[in-house]
Amino acid sequence: MKKNFYYIWKVLQFAWRANGLYVSVKIFTDVYTATLYPLIQMILLARVIDLLVENMLLENLLWIGAAYTSASLLNYYLANYDGLKQPYFQNKMEFYLDSVITQKLSQLDPATFEKAKFQNSLAQLNGTIGVMVMLQERLSGLINAIVKVIAAGIILFPLFPIFIPLIVIATLPAYFVADRYRVKLFPYFITKRAKVRRVITYIYNLLSSDSTSKEAAIFKTGSVMQQKISQVKKGYFIPFNKISERGVYLQFLSTFLQLAAFLYAQYLLLLSVLRHVVSIGQFTLYFQQIMNLAYGVENILGMYSSISMRVDTVEAFFQFLEIESMIKPNPHPIPFPEKKDQGIEIAFRNVSFHYPKQDRDILHDFNLTMHPGEKIAIVGENGAGKTTLIKLLLRFYDVTEGELLINGINIKELDLNEWHKKVGALFQDFIKYQFTFKDNIAFGDLDKKPDESLLRTAMKQSGADTYFGTLPKGFDQIVGKMFDEGIDLSGGQWQKLALARAFFRNAPILILDEPTSAIDAKAEYEIFENVQKLQKDKTVIIISHRFSTVRNADRILVLDEGKIVEEGNHEKLMKKKGLYAELFELQAKGYK
Ligand SMILES: Nc1ncnc2c1ncn2[C@@H]1O[C@H](COP(=O)(O)OP(=O)(O)OP(=O)(O)O)[C@@H](O)[C@H]1O
Ligand SMILES: [Mg+2]
Repeated sequence: MKKNFYYIWKVLQFAWRANGLYVSVKIFTDVYTATLYPLIQMILLARVIDLLVENMLLENLLWIGAAYTSASLLNYYLANYDGLKQPYFQNKMEFYLDSVITQKLSQLDPATFEKAKFQNSLAQLNGTIGVMVMLQERLSGLINAIVKVIAAGIILFPLFPIFIPLIVIATLPAYFVADRYRVKLFPYFITKRAKVRRVITYIYNLLSSDSTSKEAAIFKTGSVMQQKISQVKKGYFIPFNKISERGVYLQFLSTFLQLAAFLYAQYLLLLSVLRHVVSIGQFTLYFQQIMNLAYGVENILGMYSSISMRVDTVEAFFQFLEIESMIKPNPHPIPFPEKKDQGIEIAFRNVSFHYPKQDRDILHDFNLTMHPGEKIAIVGENGAGKTTLIKLLLRFYDVTEGELLINGINIKELDLNEWHKKVGALFQDFIKYQFTFKDNIAFGDLDKKPDESLLRTAMKQSGADTYFGTLPKGFDQIVGKMFDEGIDLSGGQWQKLALARAFFRNAPILILDEPTSAIDAKAEYEIFENVQKLQKDKTVIIISHRFSTVRNADRILVLDEGKIVEEGNHEKLMKKKGLYAELFELQAKGYK
């Protein structure tokens, strides 16, 4: 009970922030149009009938007409206002919730997204918006029902005090039955439904998205996918139908008692009319109020159970908003230890690391110092731990043992945002922003004004200038096919664009994790010439499977199972005739 009201209060606060005054106007509108207005009408009608009987109607016509007209005008105004404005406010609420969710997502870190608990809670958000809007409606329904019952109580109590307990008791069985079925059916509206929808959406995307539809078309997986969908649907609809069918009968049975109580109350009312305790005019009023009492009590119970069912979903939403990043920011960070004209030194000291909830060390007792301005290449088999090394360096994860020093200071002591500003990075799975060409580059450094000359410099370094001329709208060209008028780029063109973004940042450290896997050999050669020449004072870390790319690096690290097994420049490693030489020969042979 306390929890229910706590979350109702939170939803109201939320609605208030999204829509302001509308929440209260809406609640008042519902109460007025559904309860107060009919009540006023009824009171006036009762008066009219009694005045007719007493033959006094004409003298009183003016005030009755005026009261009726003003009550009606208010009713029409509110009903119209609500009818026209509700979709607008509902959308506003939805968009407000969306913005709160995206804001939260943008504050969290990669390690958080990996947690299963987080993914579950994210998936549950699917139905949350609908639930919150619904909760708001149920709440105004509840208030409305309460007002109805209070009004009916005030009118009926002096003459028929018995009616209230009579009707409340008669409504309880129907309520318990309905509540039971509501609890059973509710998952079919939200969680179970969301599960089905997730599968269907996934398959939609699989069949239609640019990156997967080609494979689906050639392997003709469409029919198998449809089977998967119908299987999932079966698991949803069959039990759903069974439960709801059983509910129909039981609920029907339980309403008999309600009907009996209602009829008995009306019978008592009729008796008192016959005994002249109640006038004819009053009879109409009482008749309606007994109805209101019955509906009102039923609605209070119904709305309340409907609200309490939804509270869990709402609770999940508010819990989602309280999820914290895995990496806790240092509340008292040390100012970044700049070394004058010397760049930045990065040192791994006896670092071991395993991913959360896993035993296997990806790095074990790992030592490495990257000197300012050094061009370092990392090679190694799939799964050797190259990308993991980069993730640690950016503190997406904390090392499990040892320490990672930036200019001699433990990375945990630094302000993470400040550290990230010093790094330009391009990941294996980089983002293809389906926005303008210009955005794709400018997002590399939001603090910088994207002057055309700066954009062009970055494009030139990455080779994105080579196809720039083919874009009809130049910098304002939307790239990608997701939105109207977008033009898709080739794999290599996307990569060049993403590289331009990393270059645009112009940070003292540049990290490129397989930046050129889709770029042709000639363009790749030119890009790395540029990296060597233009990024002279910068530390550059390149991960690549192409040995032609790495051979010019100052130092090449060969990584195997989380350890550096060889290190040195190309000549030194070739002379050593170890793993590097072997792999290099293997690749070179392929080209001969
Ligand atoms: N988020 C994660 N959770 C658990 N294990 C992970 C996670 N990411 C990577 N791993 C594991 O860590 C190991 C190293 O992965 P990593 O991505 O660092 O390899 P890599 O050297 O970059 O490989 P590739 O050349 O394929 O990109 C792999 O065995 C992988 O299965
Ligand atoms: Mg990798």
